[in-house]
Amino acid sequence: MPLNCLVYASLATQKFTDDQLLSLLKKARDNNERLDITGMLLYRDGFFMQVLEGDLDDIEELFDVIADDSRHSDIIVVYKKPIKQRSFAKWTMGFNKIDDKNIESIKGFTQFLKNPTPEFFKQNASEAEALLDQFKHQLLF
Ligand SMILES: Cc1cc2nc3c(=O)[nH]c(=O)nc-3n(C[C@H](O)[C@H](O)[C@H](O)COP(=O)(O)O)c2cc1C
Repeated sequence: MPLNCLVYASLATQKFTDDQLLSLLKKARDNNERLDITGMLLYRDGFFMQVLEGDLDDIEELFDVIADDSRHSDIIVVYKKPIKQRSFAKWTMGFNKIDDKNIESIKGFTQFLKNPTPEFFKQNASEAEALLDQFKHQLLF
């Protein structure tokens, strides 16, 4: 099956605490390992962006489950495309939380990330890709 990458953005229906994020990640990592899915989840004050990498069928099936999750809404696919290799091969789901402390170090996105929206990234898919790229080497846990 062809290797593909799906990126979406969404809004949390309620702000997540660190404990809630950790428990979401634990479940995600257990499932993703079984499915050979890798990727990254970014969280900023109620805004999510996630990369899912794997076989096309597997990421589409998982995305359907995730999209059905009532903990977030306004889910927008930013892009879905075939890839030659994984960008997050080592991560069953890498994670980073963008907060006020590290926001200033994020090149070019400072203004936008103060109030991110899924629509912005849908219209600016290449900016989404650039933002995700910046986090590739600085995942938190
Ligand atoms: C923002 C967000 C990202 C998620 N990412 C994943 C993921 O990468 N993998 C996964 O299995 N579940 C993920 N989930 C959880 C799923 O929606 C769902 O609760 C879970 O897959 C159910 O797993 P279970 O059937 O083993 O209980 C995510 C949920 C949210 C809200």
